[in-house]
Amino acid sequence: MTYKLIVMLHLLGASVWVGGHVILSLVVLPPALRQRDPAPIRAFEQRFEKVGIPALALQVASGLWLAHYWIPDWTRWFAFGSPQAALIAVKLGLLGLTALLGVHARWRLIPRLTADTLPQLAGHIIAVTLLSLGFLVAGSGIRLGGLSW
Ligand code: HEM
Repeated sequence: MTYKLIVMLHLLGASVWVGGHVILSLVVLPPALRQRDPAPIRAFEQRFEKVGIPALALQVASGLWLAHYWIPDWTRWFAFGSPQAALIAVKLGLLGLTALLGVHARWRLIPRLTADTLPQLAGHIIAVTLLSLGFLVAGSGIRLGGLSW
């Protein structure tokens, strides 16, 4: 019962985090780049972070719970001894990269955002979106027993 509820919460957080970044990359970013106007990105980010950051926090909390469910001994998460352990380690690596890019964008790029620095932020947005898809692919592989077809 608890396991099913946590998987559902994990999928809810994933929908918000991945969906928000796909919308940002495919709907908000292209016209902003064409018009060299950072305003729509700033407006989207300010609104999205109110649900996006709680969604990411939910992912981390529910993800750690699920990782412990699959492999109770956390020292084995980094031993690459099974497909599940390897994919949990990959997800933690993706989390580290996402955090680094997020901190850099939030504290360095966004405060000094201009038309000239917009392409740098665009690179960040695309990278975080690809990382979010990486989370999704790695996460699906945990239940499916790996990613090989
Ligand atoms: C934004 C970040 C994340 C996204 C978008 C995401 C997405 C997903 C998705 C779509 C699944 C498939 C669920 C299913 O099979 O029904 C999944 C499963 C899983 N994720 Fe994540 N995840 C994220 C972060 C994390 C983190 C930080 C961890 C911690 C290691 C984690 C651990 C897991 C585990 C253990 C499963 C297997 C659940 C199961 O099927 O029992 N995830 N994730």
